[in-house]
Amino acid sequence: MAKRNMSPKARAGPGYRKSKPKFSPEDVRKAVRENYTKLALTQAPCCGTTQSSSCGCGTLYPQAEIVSLPSEAVAVSAGCGNPTAIASLKEGMTVVDLGSGGGIDCFLSAKKVGGKGRVIGIDATPEMIYRARKTAEENGYKNVEFRLGEIEHMPLEKETADVIISNCVINLSPEKEQVFRDAFRVLKPGGKLAVSDIVLLKDLPKDMVDDIGTWSKCVSGAVKESEYIGAMKKAGFERIKVEERVVYSHEELKGYAEGTVSIDSPKLKGVDLSDLVASYKISAFKPK
Ligand SMILES: C[S@@+](CC[C@H](N)C(=O)[O-])C[C@H]1O[C@@H](n2cnc3c(N)ncnc32)[C@H](O)[C@@H]1O
Repeated sequence: MAKRNMSPKARAGPGYRKSKPKFSPEDVRKAVRENYTKLALTQAPCCGTTQSSSCGCGTLYPQAEIVSLPSEAVAVSAGCGNPTAIASLKEGMTVVDLGSGGGIDCFLSAKKVGGKGRVIGIDATPEMIYRARKTAEENGYKNVEFRLGEIEHMPLEKETADVIISNCVINLSPEKEQVFRDAFRVLKPGGKLAVSDIVLLKDLPKDMVDDIGTWSKCVSGAVKESEYIGAMKKAGFERIKVEERVVYSHEELKGYAEGTVSIDSPKLKGVDLSDLVASYKISAFKPK
């Protein structure tokens, strides 16, 4: 399953369908919550199985980092990258993780910021929050906390964070501009946003766009790079940089959308799903 680094321009071609999904924000939130409730309650390891109900898995991190983390967090890792790799974390920093899930990036960050630092994970799925809190308690993490809430309206004071990270979550939001506005509010002046996320390279087949299941699997909620970066700029971010762009093959996209109605439908049989989406690492700063 080779991933290739290449520009979206080079990969552009005839799109399938320029349509927006017809779901209400509430439909999306409900589908997303249901999907991640299932994942939070699973005991099976995510990585290397075909039963993952998540977006990605923990093979995206250096092995040395993974082995140092609680297995309960790694088991439900659902990211599409490793935002801590571009976050420039230092001892004593306060880090906020948007859509923290089982907490993998929070626990990694906790080691980097140390005892004088602080990590706050925000997630809208109660079962993920319970699971992550239990993992933190059982593994003695004193500098990590998990708060139930939406990343569009975070339960945090303004200018709380030195760094905001997020791993495969903003694509799930039905209000992406609001996510970036609230991230801007919560960051300290000069603070860094470090995100891994799924971005669309071409229009998706109509059947995938119309299937809410593919939204909660991190596919059809994704937007194109120009829209994503446009929303960041509109919120006030500067020095926006795409640090990595990994294009997904047909098999990888099928894996993401596994179990959804559209991917299993005869209409998509024989349709080439390669080069439609990519996993991005993007960084940006709040002006000083
Ligand atoms: C694909 S998983 C990624 C979890 C985690 N970042 C990781 O890498 O393992 C998406 C997570 O984001 C949460 N989520 C989705 N939309 C959200 C929103 N609008 N506000 C807060 N959390 C959200 C889900 O509950 C889920 O735990």
